[in-house]
Amino acid sequence: MDTSRPPVPDPDLTALAAALGSLAAAFDIRWVEECASTNSALLDALPENDGRAHVFVATRQSAGRGRRGRQWLAWPGASLTFSVLWRFAPGAPVPAGLSLVVGLALACTLEKLGVSAVTLKWPNDVLVNGAKISGILVEVSPERGGTLAAVIGIGLNLRLPADAAIPDQGGSVTDLTRELGEVPSREMLLAAILSELHPMLTAYGGSGFGLLRETWQQRNAFANLPVRVSGDGLDVTGSCLGVDEEGALLVRVGDGMHRVYAGDVSLRHAS
Ligand code: ATP
Ligand code: BTN
Repeated sequence: MDTSRPPVPDPDLTALAAALGSLAAAFDIRWVEECASTNSALLDALPENDGRAHVFVATRQSAGRGRRGRQWLAWPGASLTFSVLWRFAPGAPVPAGLSLVVGLALACTLEKLGVSAVTLKWPNDVLVNGAKISGILVEVSPERGGTLAAVIGIGLNLRLPADAAIPDQGGSVTDLTRELGEVPSREMLLAAILSELHPMLTAYGGSGFGLLRETWQQRNAFANLPVRVSGDGLDVTGSCLGVDEEGALLVRVGDGMHRVYAGDVSLRHAS
């Protein structure tokens, strides 16, 4: 018997659909036992545009990815790893604010579950008491006809093993069990996240980030704190003022202001 693979119950897709209620029809959900990366699975074979959002969930993800080829570590039954294919109409305001909107949907979900001190680290991390609980990887693919296929990958820690060693992690990490005690089932969590995500992505696709900006700012993990933003040939140190109407990070440097668009840059406390 392979003891490195603890049994994880099959997902209850009926319970998932019931939890989604009337929104169930807006999603096509595929839940596999194992794959390398849920983002790659969708990107490698983009489902046809049938008007629904396509969700790909994996109980085990063997090669989860973060940005710049970094790893996302997950443990079967102790992590939620999934990706959502969301199509934006031609001309929609996609790249800059998208991972912020997704972070906001995750933050609102966690708060409704009773988690407190949820903050957002620009551009793509969800923190609880300063520790990373969830990461987001958005990858876009332009399509014929001008639509933009955005694959939104989400990894959420449900219960980290006591000896979890996370590579390249400068800060601390946490999980839902530590923050909440009792964790809802993976199906209930997924339904709760999708229920927040759907209206926010619809609003974002229709009118951009502007209307969601203030809600994001309220959760900015680095509001008015000294930060250093580096990578992609950029190295800026200053005070974090938040984000603009497009989701770009605003950093005050002396008397001036730097606007940083979400590229492969990292945001850190500047101490
Ligand atoms: P940065 O810190 O530069 O902003 P990031 O936090 O946005 O980067 P990515 O660049 O997307 O992260 O890379 C993923 C990173 O997430 C990994 O380098 C690792 O440090 C961290 N990580 C991997 N698995 C987990 C996990 N289960 N929980 C928390 N953090 C993780
Ligand atoms: C980050 O840490 O900032 C991004 C991590 C994103 C991880 C998720 S897990 C589901 C999806 N599939 C992947 O390979 N990556 C994302």
